[in-house]
Amino acid sequence: MKKTILLTGGAGYIGSHTAVALIESGYDVVIADNLCNSSKQAVERVGKITGTTPKFYEIDVRDKESLSKVFEENNIDSVIHFAGLKAVGESVKKPVAYYRNNLDATLTLLECMEKGNCNNIVFSSSATVYGEENPIPYEETMPRGACSSPYGWTKAFTEQILIDASKADPELSVVLLRYFNPIGAHSSGLIGEDPNGIPNNLMPYISQVAVGKRDSLTVFGGDYDTPDGTCRRDFIHVCDLAEGHVKAVGYCEEHKGSEIFNLGTGTPYSVLEIINAFEKVNDIKINYTIGNRREGDLPQFWANAEKAQNILGWSAKKTIDDMCKDTWKWQSTNPDGYEK
Ligand code: NAD
Ligand code: WQD
Repeated sequence: MKKTILLTGGAGYIGSHTAVALIESGYDVVIADNLCNSSKQAVERVGKITGTTPKFYEIDVRDKESLSKVFEENNIDSVIHFAGLKAVGESVKKPVAYYRNNLDATLTLLECMEKGNCNNIVFSSSATVYGEENPIPYEETMPRGACSSPYGWTKAFTEQILIDASKADPELSVVLLRYFNPIGAHSSGLIGEDPNGIPNNLMPYISQVAVGKRDSLTVFGGDYDTPDGTCRRDFIHVCDLAEGHVKAVGYCEEHKGSEIFNLGTGTPYSVLEIINAFEKVNDIKINYTIGNRREGDLPQFWANAEKAQNILGWSAKKTIDDMCKDTWKWQSTNPDGYEK
């Protein structure tokens, strides 16, 4: 029988790509999302790509009554918990809203899972939990560090909540996925990243300059102690990341306790290397200037990606050129993102 996976926040950027990967791997997918940072069109387009539109609940995951109903109406085998607010800068300005949303969502979900007899949860954590103190590349055995934002702390706290819950309940299986820097889009150009307002992240900013929505990109700092003076990150194609979730769900269903996996490529690229790759593969000039450093940015970090390779049998396959090409396909065919 087909297994059913609930994706909280499944209408969002990573959730929608994961929905495609799960459906293509033979799972049934149910999505619960309040659309606070996404569009129902993403769910419909998952249907266009795969031929199967996921069952969709427009609910706030913190609303216990509504979420309980999702478990009552569906035989949920596992949950992938994407739902959360994710803008680092906004979290500094609105810490309480971030803690309220991201922590409450997890607590309510855990209560509903217990009531609904669902024992498997995969959580969207972030490389940001390694903090500033750890040496690079980051390994899962390293202690969590001091996070640079309330957003980061919501990830660190949620990890701890889930680890504690799994210690207390021998039936519970928890997989914590620490994403590095997801970019790119599905190669169909039908789904992709659709940020509200001015993009905070590098790739959506580059693609909005390319499509003419923004005049110029500011590179935040050209005087770092890195090979070309700009920051370096472990950029990972969102479809590779989505495949990592399929493997993680399989692992989660077969194990108990908690396990942490980095989802990264293991190879860093600099901001200038990304701009150059985007220009070359898409034959478009990106206007940019080198500006001041952005507060809170680390010079460079990337993943040790061996654990996911050894235990999940997963590794990233797509290249920087794929990431730049697929981002442009999405942005150029949907210049204003999903229709509002
Ligand atoms: P996203 O904003 O596109 O998706 C998150 C989804 O959660 C959105 O569709 C939003 O509407 C929904 N949501 C938020 N709060 C909700 C609530 N209370 N109830 C119901 N739905 C709610 O973001 P994304 O990039 O797809 O990220 C998914 C997850 O991965 C997030 O938890 C994010 O923090 C985490 N993450 C993202 C990145 C990244 O760079 N994109 C990196 C590391 C971790
Ligand atoms: C990448 C590089 C910037 C924009 C963030 C979160 C992290 C995770 C992923 C959720 C940096 C530079 C950017 C611009 C630039 N998200 N840059 N000009 O900061 O590595 O990670 O997203 O968990 O928690 O912090 O990603 O894409 O913002 O920046 O020069 O206009 O691009 O300085 O060096 P970051 P990013």
